[in-house]
Parts: sequence; C-alpha cells; structure tokens
Amino acid sequence: RGPVPVPTDLTTEVLQALETTDPLLTATSLPHVAQADIKAALDRLASRSMIEYDTQDNEVVVPTAEGKQIIDEGSHEWKVWDAVKREGRIPIKELANFVAAESAKVGQGNAFKSKWIKKDVDALVPTADSVEDTTRLTLQYVQAHSTFEDPKVSKDYLKRKLVTSQKLIAYTVRKGPKYAKEIPVEVTDLTAEMLQNGSWKTANFKPYNFSSRGILSTGGEPGALHPLMKVREEFRRIFFDLDFIEMPTGRFVDSGFWNFDALFVPQQHPARDLQDTFYVSDPAEAGRPGPDVDADQALESMERRRNIFTRKSDQQQEDAPKLDYEKYYANVRAVHETGAFGSTGYRYPYSDAETKRLVLRTHTTAVSTYCLHRLAANPRPCRYFSIDRVFRNETVDATHLAEFHQIEGVIADYGLTLGGLMAFLEGFFNELGITNLRFKPAYNPYTEPSMEIFGFHKGLNKWVEIGNSGMFRPEMLLSMGLPEELRVYGFGLSLERPTMIKYGVSNIRELLGHKVDLGFIQSNAAVRLDKD
Ligand code: PHE
Repeated sequence: RGPVPVPTDLTTEVLQALETTDPLLTATSLPHVAQADIKAALDRLASRSMIEYDTQDNEVVVPTAEGKQIIDEGSHEWKVWDAVKREGRIPIKELANFVAAESAKVGQGNAFKSKWIKKDVDALVPTADSVEDTTRLTLQYVQAHSTFEDPKVSKDYLKRKLVTSQKLIAYTVRKGPKYAKEIPVEVTDLTAEMLQNGSWKTANFKPYNFSSRGILSTGGEPGALHPLMKVREEFRRIFFDLDFIEMPTGRFVDSGFWNFDALFVPQQHPARDLQDTFYVSDPAEAGRPGPDVDADQALESMERRRNIFTRKSDQQQEDAPKLDYEKYYANVRAVHETGAFGSTGYRYPYSDAETKRLVLRTHTTAVSTYCLHRLAANPRPCRYFSIDRVFRNETVDATHLAEFHQIEGVIADYGLTLGGLMAFLEGFFNELGITNLRFKPAYNPYTEPSMEIFGFHKGLNKWVEIGNSGMFRPEMLLSMGLPEELRVYGFGLSLERPTMIKYGVSNIRELLGHKVDLGFIQSNAAVRLDKD
C-alpha cells in the first residue's frame, strides 16, 4: 500500500467542527469517512499542534444481512404467526406454501415456544390476536444504538448470526495550542534566498511526517537469493543445530604454509603444481605464519555468543601462553624434513620459499588448520564448520569449475574413534535425506585413516560420492601443541553437488558464472533438504 491519501477537506472539516464543538467525538460526528482517513487527517493536524486527540477502542454490534431482513420484514416466528392468523388455520404440511422455507423451519418452533400458535389435530391455529415481535424490536434497537438494550441476550443473537461485533475506534478531538480554522500555508524547501534574506527564521515549515508509509517499488526486479546460498543456509542451520561454530573464511588468498605444508602435503605433491593450483603473482609472497587478528576476533566473538566458555575456561583463556607461531613453523618443517612426533617424515630438503608462496586456497581445510592451531592456546572439545569458496586450476567442463564452494566440518574431542566419525556422518547426512552411507578407504596427506563417503540418493536412485573425511594425523595436531589425547575428525563436501541434485541442474555452468539465467535464480523455490 502506498501512502494513505487524506481528503484535503477532511482536515478543514475537523478544524471547522471544533469551532463549535470542542471536544469533538469523531465516531458520531464524522460517520461518513473511512477510519484510516480520519486517523491520517488527525495525525496531520496533531503533528502541527493544531489539535490533540485520544483514541478509544469500542466494540459495537451491527445487524447482519439476515438481521436487517428481520428488521425490515419481521422475525421468522412472527411471519409464521402472521400467516396462521391471516388464514385462520394452516395444515402443518402446507405451512411452506404460506411462508418462506427458512421461516417455516426456524419460525414454527419459536412461535410455539412463545405460545403464539398451537396445534389443532394436524393444523396450526393462532392463539393470540396481536403479538410483540421481540426479536425485531431488539434488532431495531441494535441498529439505532450499536449495542443491546439488554446485554444478556447478545450472546444468543451473535450465535444466531443476526448480529456481528465490530471494532470501532472513536477519537476525542480537542483544539491544540496552534489551533486555527485552516492549515496555514507551509514552506517545504529551505532555499538559498531564504537563508540570505533571513526569512527562514520566521517561515512556517511543514513538519516531517516520519510515519508516512513508503511507496512500494513497482518497477524493476527485487533481489533474489542464489540457489547455492539457499542450500548454504540450510547447511548452516544444520551445523548450528549440531552446536558447530562458524569459522572465519574471508581469506581467499593464503600461504602455502596453511594451505599445504601444515597439512603435510609434500612440497613436490602434484596438487601443488601450477596445473592444479592458482598462484598469486602480485604480491607473490606471504610473510611468516602468524596470528590473523580479524579471524581471531571473529572466532572469539562467535565462541562467546554461543556461550561455550565456562567461567573457569574463560580464565584459562587469559592465562594461556601466547601461541608460538615460530615454534609451530619449526615443528612443521621438522616433520617434513626429518620426521617428528612419531612420524618418519618425508625426508626432503624443505623450501621456505614454497611455504611462503601465495595461493588461492584450494580447500577450506587451510582455515580449519588455522583454527585448530589456535585451539592449542586453550585445548578443549569443540566443533567448527565453514562453507565458502575454494579455487582449483581445473579444465572447466559440465561438472567442474575453477572455483566452487566447500562445506567443511571439524570436531575435536577426547577419545574420538573412527566408528564415532562414521556414526556422526550418518546422522549428518540423514538430515539431508541421504541414508545408507558407505565408506571407502582413501588417502589424504593430513588424515589417517581417510574415507570417501558414498550415499544412496533416493531421488537419483544411485550411489553418489558425497564427501571426503578422516581423522587428522597425530603429527599434524601434535606439532600445533594440541594434547595427545585430543583427536580431531574432519570432513568436507562440495556445496554445488547437493544444489545441482536439488534443483535438477546437470551443468554446473548453469549454476555459477556468467552463463547463469537470471530467471532461474529469481524463480527457484526455497529449500528444505530433508524433505526431498
Ligand atoms: N580437504 C578435503 C577436500 O578438499 C576435505 C577434508 C577435510 C577431508 C577435512 C578430510 C578432513 O576434499
């Protein structure tokens, strides 16, 4: 709805009525205008202090169409009595020939009850020469006074649907301090001229109307959530329901250290090739690994909001020694070069240059790694997740893009086992409507054991690979300074895949990138994953 138009003469009408009647009662004085118009006009005057007003909510009763018919023609029982009296005698079976069917049905019983008619063998005969049609009289009173003379009967009349109750707002209007018979001419713009000649000091400015409603935009097209974002929201809901905290994933560019080295992806690993990874040329190098203040703050406020600290661990947090990034860096290097923390290592000369190279992150596990290292400042069970963009230098085809979204979860706790990870994943994918998981041994440099996750998709009626998972290797966690007994699960899947299945998209380029049809974005429905 746009702004309510105020009939211009309504304000004048109110001002002039106040001239003779002060206070003025609108419910009785202005019955011909719509309630919304009255309110708009009064607000307009009140904002100028020309009037003041109070409101009262009143319940009023008004006759329904059937009630009005009774007012005009008499009640059903009266019609029956009237017909019987005129005829002198009507066989019961023939009553419907003399009055309307509805009257015959309802009126007969009531006329009996009121003792206006009686039965004589198989016919109706009158018992009174004149009767008082109380139903009609009562309704006439209601029509004139908007209320019942005897409030006790109101329930009965409402139930018989002869009257309905309505809310009516009555306004008591009084003259205000700036009362006048008409709204004075008002200035709407402050001009340079007014500033120069000083007339702004005495000008009568039109007050701002802060309660006026905005105009709904009719042209153009409203924004719409991208289907990927809708599915993302569904995943976020599931993670939050399972008490996960969202990791700060704003850093698309990361160093080789966080993206690869800390995850023990060997420096000669094919995944680190130009063919698989985008390297940033300007600037090409990162500094030494260190704290990301923005990420730390985001995590901390998220943890506080979710209230995961007890008072005691809050204190521990403050007492915790500052994270030693240099030591961590040396530990990671040692594992690669010579082996450490029970690992025999890769035993190759570790290149600092490789560690510093800036890359478009190839997985969100780079962020999980940062967050797990931070956890070493205050080791405790926790659950982290993220859903964000990753980049891989791949040949673009129907199912691959050079960038896509990863959904990733990390669970740290004492005494975790592989069976627990499988059970967790079963519950998680169950939320998406995917049951009967199958696990296949796989390899990740940073997890052992590792498992690919397959699920039977009811909609597609086949087994699909839906994710990758594992338990982070001890040398990865120990080099961070996490305690030996703390185990960590990790799992990841793409956001595109479930979205394509959900929306029946077979070519990923229809979902992401410049070939996307905007009509598709705007018309697709909301998602509930578990309802598929
Ligand atoms: N990083 C893995 C991938 O890109 C997903 C994963 C995350 C696997 C955490 C195990 C643990 O597929």
